[in-house]
Amino acid sequence: MRKVSVLVIFSLGFVFACQSPATKNHRTGLIADHGVVVSAHPEASRIGKMILEEGGNAVDAAVATGFALAVCYPDAGNIGGGGFMVIRFREGHTAALDYREKAPLRAYEEMFQDAAGHVIPGLSLDSDLAVGVPGSVAGLLKALDKYGLLSLQQVIQPAIDLAEKGFPVTLKQAKRLNQYKEAFLRANRFVPAFVKDVPWKEGDTLVQTDLANALKMIRDHGRDGFYKGPVAKAFLDQIKQDNGWITQQDLDVYRAIWREPLMAVYKNYKVISMPPPSSGGVALIQLLNMVEPWPIGKWGWNTPESVHVMVAAEKRVYADRARFLGDPDFVDIPVTKLIDKDYCRERMRGFSLKRVIPSDSISHGKPIGYESRETTHYSVVDGEGNAVAVTTTLNRSYGNKVVVKDAGFLLNNEMDDFSAKPGTPNSYGLIGGRANAIEPAKRMLSSMTPTILEKDGQLFMVVGSPGGSTIITSVFQTVLNVTEHHMTMQEAVNAGRFHHQWKPDMIFYEKSALDRLTKDRLKQMGYALKLRSSIGRVDAVRVWPDGKREGGADPRGDDTATGF
Ligand code: GLY
Repeated sequence: MRKVSVLVIFSLGFVFACQSPATKNHRTGLIADHGVVVSAHPEASRIGKMILEEGGNAVDAAVATGFALAVCYPDAGNIGGGGFMVIRFREGHTAALDYREKAPLRAYEEMFQDAAGHVIPGLSLDSDLAVGVPGSVAGLLKALDKYGLLSLQQVIQPAIDLAEKGFPVTLKQAKRLNQYKEAFLRANRFVPAFVKDVPWKEGDTLVQTDLANALKMIRDHGRDGFYKGPVAKAFLDQIKQDNGWITQQDLDVYRAIWREPLMAVYKNYKVISMPPPSSGGVALIQLLNMVEPWPIGKWGWNTPESVHVMVAAEKRVYADRARFLGDPDFVDIPVTKLIDKDYCRERMRGFSLKRVIPSDSISHGKPIGYESRETTHYSVVDGEGNAVAVTTTLNRSYGNKVVVKDAGFLLNNEMDDFSAKPGTPNSYGLIGGRANAIEPAKRMLSSMTPTILEKDGQLFMVVGSPGGSTIITSVFQTVLNVTEHHMTMQEAVNAGRFHHQWKPDMIFYEKSALDRLTKDRLKQMGYALKLRSSIGRVDAVRVWPDGKREGGADPRGDDTATGF
């Protein structure tokens, strides 16, 4: 077993330092010679690294990290939700796995509307009707089966141990668990493991015996351990108890699907990202294509000009998202046209550095030729150079807060990612159209953007973020921070972010994203600005020309890079 290579080099202002809370302000994150895992929780990153050290490849480590996050990051890590995985193998071969949740077979377009056709507030978020058929277990096992080197027993056991023996909650976790105590009590007829009589404090141990038992069923019976037998029964009993519609048939027919990753070229970089039913890959590539002709690097990071052109692109891209994107198994999506450079340039026609075009004057484009807030992202690179980007979600924090009794896992509220009614915004304020209307067994549109970049045919970056509608713009800015503004991975992750999603016509920004001069100039131009405490949470890996890997863990959370 090789030791973590921790270099502290002061050269031309570059500081390479080991990742610890004390070093988060240094220019780079963790530097490793071999494998790196960056995830939302130190325990999950530790487990991912351990699997790499035990001879697992990046897929083994990603699967182990995913199961570990289901235990130690219940905000979004899950076995009751879904996700996407993008893989690039050392020699350049790529794969994309879709394990997004699906609408139950009984679902129908107006299921969240009342008799008068009004959307019933909260129904798609806070009820058992909000739950999509979970895909995470099917997805993780499918990836492991095809590409893993280790056994299911080897990659899942650390998560079982974590649930059974417990782990120390972080300060941020303790605060969040306290904040959600009432919500957990309201949503459940029993007291789940997340609730304590006295407030949680940093270092308290969170034990999840029921969840450990559910994970053991998966360890011993594979997919059937979750989609059949006692775990499925507990899940379906829970759903039935609160009048949800998912049945055993929904679980039986659920399948994760290998899809063709999206590929595009941005300047010297090849971008590999997730196709629909995520909008993430399409939107990221459109954004990069739209800003490519403009000298963002020369203008500088988050100057008025850079923000203006990026926001102009964001308005157009989110308008296209609302009109065209949905589940490709149900709707024809003109993907090739949407990510075509000429189409994207044409969409930017009329853009002027001097004036702002309001969102109401921007609609979707006309791509001719049809062919067909709470989530978590982790990035893994192994010693061989295989790379995995995974974004996974329960939708909002702790999903719909309902814990499956005797199985210990949280239910997602992913049905809210459908368009409950065309033109009515979802909980992220995203407007959807017919392409994302509810249909039986359809996958709801996502913004998750697990992405891998190549430079000169070599692995360059693995990146992704949670954050609902802000996922796409968080990944977009992180990519530009490195490619245009020459930041290290850690600096790119740390840097303040902003976000525009066409509607509302508003730039949301983190305090550190825009300086006063830029804000004043943008306001003069006619932009509405709104401060947000936090946008996205990017966990990423960059490969430097000398082959060293830099893990960039987002300081907005407990995110941690580990490596060796
Ligand atoms: N639930 C957030 C997303 O999938 O975009």
